[in-house]
Amino acid sequence: MKKNIFVALDFNSLDKAIDATKKIKDKIAGVKIGTELYAICGTEGLKKFKEVGVEIFLDLKLHDIPNQVKKTVAAIASLNNVKYLTVHTSGNYEMLKAAQQAAGSIELLGVTVLTSQSNLEGVGVKNSMENQIKLLVNLAIKAGISGVIASAQDVSLIRSLSKELKIFCPGIRSGEDKQDQKRVVSYADFSKIADDKCFAVIGRPIIEGDPIKNIKKIIESSKK
Ligand code: C5P
Repeated sequence: MKKNIFVALDFNSLDKAIDATKKIKDKIAGVKIGTELYAICGTEGLKKFKEVGVEIFLDLKLHDIPNQVKKTVAAIASLNNVKYLTVHTSGNYEMLKAAQQAAGSIELLGVTVLTSQSNLEGVGVKNSMENQIKLLVNLAIKAGISGVIASAQDVSLIRSLSKELKIFCPGIRSGEDKQDQKRVVSYADFSKIADDKCFAVIGRPIIEGDPIKNIKKIIESSKK
C-alpha cells in the first residue's frame, strides 16, 4: 500500500522530533513541521530533516497581504528542501495567486476550514460549513495551487469539485479521545475514502508515547 501518513511533529525540541522521525520514517510519506517546531529549529532544522531523508511539509498557514505572502513563499522555495507549504485559502484569490507565482517546486496546500473549528459563526461566517468549504476549495482551484487541507469528512465533496487536488486530512482519530479535533474520521475509514492523492495528517496519536507502536497500530487498523 502507498504510504499516506504525514506525521505532525508537534514537539518543542528538534532532538525529540528528529529522534521520532528516524524511528518511523520507513512507514510514513513525510513529516509535517508546524509553527511551534519551526519557531524552535528554523531553516537550519529543516536541513536536519532533509539529511534524515524524509519529505518535508512546512505548515506555516500563511495569511497576509499578497506581496508579503509571495515573498515568504519565494524565501522558502529558495531553501530547496520543502515539498509542501500551507497558506490559508481565506486569504482570498489574489493572495493565493501571488503565492503560487512564487512557489517554484513547492506544492502549496490551502487550509480550508480548520478541522478543530466547528463554529464558523463565531468568526462571522454566515455560510453553512459545506458552502464555506466549497467556496474555499474553488478559490484554491482557481489559483492553481496543488492541494487543500480539509477534514476527511469532506473528501467526496472536494472530489466533486476536482479530481486533481491533493487532499491532506488532519483530525484522524481512532479512539474515543478526540482532543481538540471536532470533525474526526478514523484511519480505517480514511483508508476506505482515500484515493492516491489523499494523505492523512496525524500528530498526537503517533508522537505521544511510543511512535513505532502507535503507527503500527494505526496502520494495522486499516487492514481489518
Ligand atoms: O495531533 P493531531 O493529530 O490533532 O494533529 C493535527 C495537526 O494538523 C496539527 O499539527 C494541526 O496544526 C494540523 N491541522 C489541523 N487542522 C487543520 C490544519 C492543520 O488540525 N485544518
